[in-house]
Amino acid sequence: MENILSVKHLKKTYQNGAHIFNALVDVSFTIAQGEILSLLGPNGAGKTTTVSIIGGYLLPTSGQVMMNGKDITTANKRPQIGVSFGGELGFYRNSTAKQNLAFFADLAKIPYRKQKLEIARVLDIVDLTNVANKKVGTFSKGMTQRLHLARALLGQPKLLLLDEPTSGLDVEIAQSIRGTIKHLAASGISILLTSHTMSEVETLADHIVLLGSGKVFATGSVNDIINKAQVNESKHPATLEESYLTLAPQLRRK
Ligand SMILES: Nc1ncnc2c1ncn2[C@@H]1O[C@H](COP(=O)(O)OP(=O)(O)O)[C@@H](O)[C@H]1O
Ligand SMILES: [Mg+2]
Repeated sequence: MENILSVKHLKKTYQNGAHIFNALVDVSFTIAQGEILSLLGPNGAGKTTTVSIIGGYLLPTSGQVMMNGKDITTANKRPQIGVSFGGELGFYRNSTAKQNLAFFADLAKIPYRKQKLEIARVLDIVDLTNVANKKVGTFSKGMTQRLHLARALLGQPKLLLLDEPTSGLDVEIAQSIRGTIKHLAASGISILLTSHTMSEVETLADHIVLLGSGKVFATGSVNDIINKAQVNESKHPATLEESYLTLAPQLRRK
């Protein structure tokens, strides 16, 4: 399948006074159309930094971000990329879901005459149509997370970046959001997702990029990662979680 995104040798150095920190040392990978790629790695591995660079929120120190073969590393508009960092922030609590999305549709420069239809479209995808006129302040965590997803879908992006889309949600709600993510990928949208839940990655990811201390430690399918870890387990096939735990000591920053 055709690659929609490729990142090449991303490096990101943070400087705080005299202190220099290499958050990303060398990160390269590609995402194909309709593929779900999961970025895995311990806290501090560089997942959010990578997502922020692809989304255009941060400039890399060096390296490239290519979308459909075009270099977009320094582009400040990325209409084909939708980003959701999740969390409780980012919406006006005293405005309705619809009003919030209208605000973001303006920011995304969606023409006024198309906004109504586009907002209805994204609300339908995330299953919030029946609460479209409720104030966001009354929303549960799961509903807020769905609204983040809706916001990221405004303007029909070809690639979605989801940083921990199910973190802090109860099991059932997380499961329903995973269903929506699968459905989006099946419709041809490419998805880059970070997650701490190995069972989630195991069920969703077509492709895993395992990050450790700012470098790509391993890449491949769930089975490739499991094979790489070579967990010694005779009673049942090794899970991704067991494999990850075996590899984890090698991923930590020294
Ligand atoms: N603005 C910043 N200034 C200095 N260091 C940072 C900054 N943002 C992130 N870092 C550091 O870069 C590393 C990677 O962070 P991050 O990309 O957030 O990792 P992850 O999302 O995998 O947990 C961490 O060690 C973090 O402390
Ligand atoms: Mg992070």
